Amino acid sequence: LERIPTQIYENADAACQTVANAITDLINERNAAGKPTVLGLATGSTPVRLYRELIRRHQQEGLSFANVITFNLDEYYGLAGDHPESYRKFMQDQLFDHVDLKPENTHVPDGLVDRDAVFQSCKEYEAAIADAGGIDIQILGIGRTGHIGFNEPGSGPETLTRLVTLDNLTRRDAARDFLGEENVPRHAITMGVGTILAAHQLFLLAWGEGKASIMAQTVEGEQTETIPATFLQQHDNCTFCIDRSAASQLT
Ligand code: F6R
Repeated sequence: LERIPTQIYENADAACQTVANAITDLINERNAAGKPTVLGLATGSTPVRLYRELIRRHQQEGLSFANVITFNLDEYYGLAGDHPESYRKFMQDQLFDHVDLKPENTHVPDGLVDRDAVFQSCKEYEAAIADAGGIDIQILGIGRTGHIGFNEPGSGPETLTRLVTLDNLTRRDAARDFLGEENVPRHAITMGVGTILAAHQLFLLAWGEGKASIMAQTVEGEQTETIPATFLQQHDNCTFCIDRSAASQLT
């Protein structure tokens, strides 16, 4: 068992400083060399403070995203980009609309692609990542099922971008945002575990008591499809940046 480097912070803001620093340093280095930076991004409540800090650095410290290319992990299947709960809308509101990213450089899987075009669309998403030179830094949250992206239990380490069925626990956790579990989409398009493992550097963030059990299983358990996040143990440049509550069940 390869224990993933785990940094435990007093609070989420402190953890986000570390990750924002890594992103800032890479962007500045690439900007100076006239080269793009490719970021893999997550949605959900976890990375909100990180995005807020990146916006602050853009507005107050001149951090420029003009040469940054982004790829998001996932999107609910069936939701248009302007649906209030779509991950495209989330990204526009939480980050994209507040920095100098070029709209054409932001990628979120298309939730409205026809069923018979999904396979092709997912292949194109993988190709776009490869064309950009691969993901330099990937940001991850973790679901209580042990999902990364929407790679639910049963997802293998070599899975690529594809249409998946959401776990019941994941849909229950999303019920509040959708004002009822029955409104939560049943499917999503997500990068695969293999797509995520191909990123050069990974940061997984987790806050609060609710993530303590899954964090302990992810850090201390054997690799298993039952908890897809355990496959992060295969990556040699992956760091978990978590707060004290999320770390409370680590031995
Ligand atoms: C979001 C994503 C998910 C979330 C996870 C945790 O793009 O891929 O894996 O990171 O469901 O969600 P929150 O942060 O809301 O607890």
